[in-house]
Amino acid sequence: MKVTVVGAGAVGASCAEYIAIKDFASEVVILDIKEGFAEGKAMDLMQTASLNGFDTKIIGSTSDYSKTANSDIAVITSGIPRKPGMTREELIGINAGIVKMVSKSLIEHSPNVIIIVVSNPMDTMTYLVHKTTDLPKNRIIGMGGALDSARFKYRLAEALGAPISDVDGMVIGGHSDKGMVPLINKAVRNSVSVSEFLSEERMNQVVQDTKVGGATLTGLLGTSAWYAPGAAVSAMVQAIACDTKKIFPCSALLEGEYGLTDLSIGVPCILGANGIEKIVEISLSDAEKSKLNESAEGVKKTNGLLEL
Ligand code: 2OP
Repeated sequence: MKVTVVGAGAVGASCAEYIAIKDFASEVVILDIKEGFAEGKAMDLMQTASLNGFDTKIIGSTSDYSKTANSDIAVITSGIPRKPGMTREELIGINAGIVKMVSKSLIEHSPNVIIIVVSNPMDTMTYLVHKTTDLPKNRIIGMGGALDSARFKYRLAEALGAPISDVDGMVIGGHSDKGMVPLINKAVRNSVSVSEFLSEERMNQVVQDTKVGGATLTGLLGTSAWYAPGAAVSAMVQAIACDTKKIFPCSALLEGEYGLTDLSIGVPCILGANGIEKIVEISLSDAEKSKLNESAEGVKKTNGLLEL
């Protein structure tokens, strides 16, 4: 199993590190345009192999896509991250050109690759890959909901005073501060609805804190987060690489599912060896449907900024 991570910045390097430590891939290639940067990150990570106990081989490449040849999975993290006060959508001008070039180069060397897009604005970048490549739609996946759901579970556990292993919840919709749809009425603490433990007000606070989870960290860090984004996309890579059939909320191209068409947005997907094995249409309340539709309008508005 060969995995390529494009972008040796904090998210890409974290993703590569988590993949290596999980040791399910034979090879991880980290590629960056900055001379020597990916090679340095790869070498530093390889020097943890004896300490972290993995045999995965990590190599670095400066802009040489031939080293990515025959990758099974490729993660696109390249592009600029947001600064405090910026929205993800403001990154589209620069990141669209990068993602378009990167996806083309990846496919040239790995025609059967499954691409996972992390670069922001992620739903629109994922849509861009659908529109500018010939990859089948099940092989183009956006990572947003896996990260947002992890933040949702963090906030739920905090509110409940519970261990994170005891809570579960899912965020669907667009990966944006306003567009996320944390499914609070489906969230549970060991199969018991969280509404049996939390007031309406506290549940609303969990939802709000989740929606601005990325912005909160950008304000604290001065740049976008990287540990949780790296961990989220590495979990998706593992589900595909190991054909686990786990469900993740992923940005997927919708062609009528949830009554939506011609956009990529976060919905529950079964991930396996074929990438998106199935888009799962779960039952949504009228309020949840309305929020998803509103989120879709926001994603389509951002998609409209693309020069396709
Ligand atoms: C985040 O929410 C980078 O979009 C990513 O942290």
